[in-house]
Amino acid sequence: MGLLIMKKLLLFLALVAPAVVQAGSSSSIAWTPETLKFVKQGNADKGKELAKSCAGCHGEQGISVMPETPSLAGQLATYTYKQLRDYAKDQRRNPLMTATAQGLSEQDTADLGAWFSTLKPATGSGSEVTAKSKKLIEEGDGKRIVPPCFVCHGANGQGEKMDIPALSGQKADYLIKTLQEYKSGQRHNDVYSRMRLIAQQLSEAEIKGLAQYYEQAK
Ligand code: HEC
Ligand code: HEC
Repeated sequence: MGLLIMKKLLLFLALVAPAVVQAGSSSSIAWTPETLKFVKQGNADKGKELAKSCAGCHGEQGISVMPETPSLAGQLATYTYKQLRDYAKDQRRNPLMTATAQGLSEQDTADLGAWFSTLKPATGSGSEVTAKSKKLIEEGDGKRIVPPCFVCHGANGQGEKMDIPALSGQKADYLIKTLQEYKSGQRHNDVYSRMRLIAQQLSEAEIKGLAQYYEQAK
């Protein structure tokens, strides 16, 4: 897609979208310099101790073996921090994660974020990639509000600063589930509705294709 259209889409998401999309707070986290500094000073050694209680589901090295449980290894510390705080504050809901997140102090949360960010991410595995998914990731679709995924998530799905997660090597079944939840609005902790607006434009087949693409990406 043309650069101009891409710029327009991004501008739309950044400026117009927040005003038109369903109201309701999306996250209690604001990326002030203080918050960024706080997360940055997270202690990975303390996080490693705390992470023993997560291993049963998220894997010993942060690589999940259960399809609908996300891997955490190599994820941005700021993203992990935000998601845990959102669960704790009921801004992202999941029966398995709410109580866990509520049991962690803000310092514990920063320590866990630091620990998981030091681990080696899952190496891409799995299924076939369709040209259609690749096109959505690299070019988006100018006829719908679908900017190319790479402009935010990075050329290899490695994530970008602060709240944009790494997707490469992530479990496809988890990615499908969470994209469906953005689409239905059940997951609504994305600031500026960035992911809800995009997921609403995607068909079930496209969601599946994109998830399979990122699962095998390195
Ligand atoms: C009983 C299993 C279980 C345990 C124990 C558990 N988790 Fe989870 N976790 C899950 C599942 C399932 C999800 C996906 C929930 C969803 O779809 O919202 C999840 C999601 C997450 C996410 C969101 C990841 C993303 O990509 O958005 C983070 C962060 C997380 N867990 C961290 C932790 C930490 C840290 C611990 C230990 C202190 C922990 N979890 C313990 C099952 C578990
Ligand atoms: C405008 C920037 C932007 C674009 C473009 C974008 N994303 Fe996102 N994405 C985000 C942000 C920010 C989050 C984290 C939101 C939150 O805190 O829940 C996110 C989260 C996600 C998640 C959740 C990951 C997890 O671990 O739970 C998935 C899956 C995802 N995006 C897939 C995509 C796909 C596929 C595309 C392209 C069709 C795309 N994104 C395009 C900004 C973007």
